[in-house]
This record gives sequence, C-alpha cells and structure tokens, in this order.
Amino acid sequence: MRMTWAMLAMGLGMSAAPHAWAADAAAGQARAEACQACHGAQGISENPEIPTLAGQQDKYLQWQLVFFRSGRRANEIMGPMAADLSDEDIRNLGAYFASLPAGTPPAADIDPVLRQAGQALAEQHRCAACHNDTFSGKQAAPAIAHQHRDYLAKALADYRSGARPSTGVAAMTEAASSLSDDDIAALAQFLAAYQ
Ligand code: HEC
Ligand code: HEC
Repeated sequence: MRMTWAMLAMGLGMSAAPHAWAADAAAGQARAEACQACHGAQGISENPEIPTLAGQQDKYLQWQLVFFRSGRRANEIMGPMAADLSDEDIRNLGAYFASLPAGTPPAADIDPVLRQAGQALAEQHRCAACHNDTFSGKQAAPAIAHQHRDYLAKALADYRSGARPSTGVAAMTEAASSLSDDDIAALAQFLAAYQ
C-alpha cells in the first residue's frame, strides 16, 4: 500500500492539526549541535557530499528526518543520527534549519557548457513546476538551487535507481527515471551554480 501524504502527516501530527503545536527553533538550535560537524555551524556544509540545510523548506526537512528515522530513506550515516530524534526534536530542527539564511556555495570549476545543457533539461522536464521558479522549493519539495553539485547528482541517481524512494505521488522517481548520467551531471551543475 502506498502511503499518502495525509497518513504520513497524521503520523507526525502535522497538517491534521497545524496549529496545535509551535515549533521551537531555539530548542532546535540546541539539538543541532550534534549536526554541526557535518552540516556546518550555520547549516552550510563545506563537504560536497553533505547537503546544506540552511534555508531549506521546513516541511521537507521534517519529512526527511522522519524517513531517515524509519529507514525509508536508508543511509548509514543519517539513520543512526535520526534514530533517537523525537517528533518534537524533528519539528524543532526543521524550524531551526529553515530559519537560517541560505548560503551560496563557492562557484568553483563551473563548466558553462554543462550548465547550459542543465538549464535546457530543467526546462524540458519542468523541474520548476514543483521546485518553484527559482528552485527555492515549496513545502515538501526542497530547495535545490545552490545545493552541492555532488550531493545533487547522488540524490538524482538514488531516485533513478530506487535506492531513495520518493514520497507521496512518487514525483521524483518519475522525474528521474529517464535521466542519463550525462543529464544528471548537467542538471547538478546547473542547479549548484544557479544564478
Ligand atoms: C557524520 C556526518 C553527519 C552528521 C553528524 C549529521 N548528518 Fe545529516 N547528512 C549527512 C549526510 C552524508 C547526508 C546525505 C545522505 C545522502 O546521501 O542521502 C545527510 C543528510 C541530511 C538531511 C537530508 C537533507 C536533504 O537535502 O535531503 C537532513 C535533513 C539531515 N542530514 C539532518 C541532520 C540533522 C538534523 C543532524 C543532527 C541531528 C545531522 N543531519 C547530522 C551527514 C551527517
Ligand atoms: C511533480 C513534482 C516534481 C517534479 C516535476 C520534480 N521534482 Fe524534484 N522533488 C519533488 C519532491 C516532492 C521532492 C522531495 C521528495 C522526497 O521526499 O524524497 C523532490 C526532491 C528532489 C531532490 C532531492 C533534494 C535533496 O535535498 O535531497 C532533487 C535533487 C530534485 N528533486 C531535483 C529535481 C530535478 C532536477 C527535477 C527535474 C528533472 C525535478 N526534481 C522534478 C518534486 C518534484
């Protein structure tokens, strides 16, 4: 049975009663000390394989932590990191990282030809329809502009192979299914260096 947004939301006590709780970003900041070594002091990761979390969509962050905790998004590093998080921790961490100013990664070694190819692919596949015009994300669809290129490429390859299941209507499994390795490299370059 495919899980629906509503079922997932109920499990997390989210949209069923959206105002029944208030996330505490300050408590999230305290809990986030355990995350800094990898995700950066201000949520901006310097490691190309570790995603930047600063300014990411709150709801997206919460879902990913729930999926790491349950093993639905299987990752040997993040699984153990999320195992002990309570629902309250997850709400607070989401609020905290979403509140941080988004960073721009260092624009090193940009390949302009690859970037242009990536732009054309993003238009062709209508990535902005879900990820917002400037790829800044909305709700459960994450910001993908200015994320690390290597991480973006891995994420797309993981959706394509099924290693990372997409949520709800399986939007990303479908979006990534027809991408070639070259397409993924081009899209990752375009988004990482998005202007
Ligand atoms: C030892 C390093 C490490 C630590 C510590 C760590 N993370 Fe991660 N995190 C990662 C890696 C690596 C990934 C990428 C996993 C993948 O490739 O799918 C990740 C991914 C994530 C994602 C998914 C982001 C996205 O764009 O999908 C979230 C959310 C996250 N981590 C939150 C946290 C939080 C909250 C903490 C602290 C409680 C934390 N992490 C601690 C290494 C770490
Ligand atoms: C129908 C809506 C939709 C379309 C079209 C779409 N996406 Fe997504 N995308 C999503 C959603 C929703 C998620 C979060 C899914 C999840 O929970 O794993 C996501 C996640 C992602 C992620 C993971 C980001 C991270 O931080 O781990 C990347 C990368 C991504 N999309 C890139 C793209 C690209 C590139 C395209 C166009 C080829 C695209 N998406 C098209 C809805 C969409």
